[in-house]
Amino acid sequence: MKCTVCRGPAVIDVRRHNSAFCPEHFVKHCEGQVHKAIHEHRMIERGDRVLVAVSGGKDSLALWDLLAGLDIHADGLYLGLGIGDYSGESAHHARAYAQAHGRKLHEVDLASDLGFTVPVAAEVTHRSPCGSCGLSKRHLFNQFAIDHGYDVVATGHNLDDEAAVLLGNVLRWDVGYLGRQHPVLPATDGFARKVKPLVRMGEREMAAYCVVRGIDYQVEECPMAAGNRHLGYKEALNAIEERSPGTKAAFVFGFLERGHARFDDDVASERAALAPCQSCGAPTPGDVCAFCKLRKRVARADAVDDRRSG
Ligand code: AMP
Ligand code: FES
Ligand code: ZN
Ligand code: ZN
Repeated sequence: MKCTVCRGPAVIDVRRHNSAFCPEHFVKHCEGQVHKAIHEHRMIERGDRVLVAVSGGKDSLALWDLLAGLDIHADGLYLGLGIGDYSGESAHHARAYAQAHGRKLHEVDLASDLGFTVPVAAEVTHRSPCGSCGLSKRHLFNQFAIDHGYDVVATGHNLDDEAAVLLGNVLRWDVGYLGRQHPVLPATDGFARKVKPLVRMGEREMAAYCVVRGIDYQVEECPMAAGNRHLGYKEALNAIEERSPGTKAAFVFGFLERGHARFDDDVASERAALAPCQSCGAPTPGDVCAFCKLRKRVARADAVDDRRSG
């Protein structure tokens, strides 16, 4: 296998681009794709203060590294979810990268800063841990950005993530989610801009990028996510992609070009109904936002436990 650019020995092929790359040209290829995504969707403007949500996994560390390669300075935010050894390992990788590259990494810890963990929330709500986890992440990334004057929150969602989420939303025809599924969500009252600069990059490419760049990342997947619906969609899409390379990209980019705008009205009416949460001020369709409700439920369960054991 030879590099499409220089004919030197290639280390990775990217079937949907009909290309293969040597390490040097692979890094250039990734930077080019991320640059294209950022410009095409006007994700980041000169002078923006950028916050990258860094989980310690391959995608978000690669994202932080790629942004620096494109001369975009970003600080990191790591969220401690309290998922045993998994969280310990993730924090280690996020901190190690920050230290080795002289980057600023903020940390918020669910247990010590907010009084609960993802496993505890799952137990109290009797729901899948990923639900409370996703809700807490979205809320805390936004809250942190607003409180600390960041204009943009960037996450490491890649093409495989976006295709799996899109498939789930289409299978249920969830028009609200479809309208909000976009690589850029503009800033509105109480919300910082949200961007996904890796929308053009596959999962396998991000792992390869980290190997080529010598970035150590958390390889283990979250133990609480095992068997969830999202992973099932990824497997189904991989089976289709194997037979017809390029399908995932066509699915996601076709939706963005030709489908997304059709759901604008659904999003506009949802947005018009938002008002500040009575407890924390974040925009919400009810009186109290879902995150504050979750916190209260966990606190109540704690109080009951205390009375029982006391
Ligand atoms: P996931 O929802 O685990 O697929 O992660 C999607 C993106 O959310 C990652 O690429 C990160 O940008 C961000 N993220 C996930 N977990 C964390 C965490 N514990 N701390 C900070 N950012 C995270
Ligand atoms: Fe959220 Fe696993 S990372 S449930
Ligand atoms: Zn080359
Ligand atoms: Zn709230």
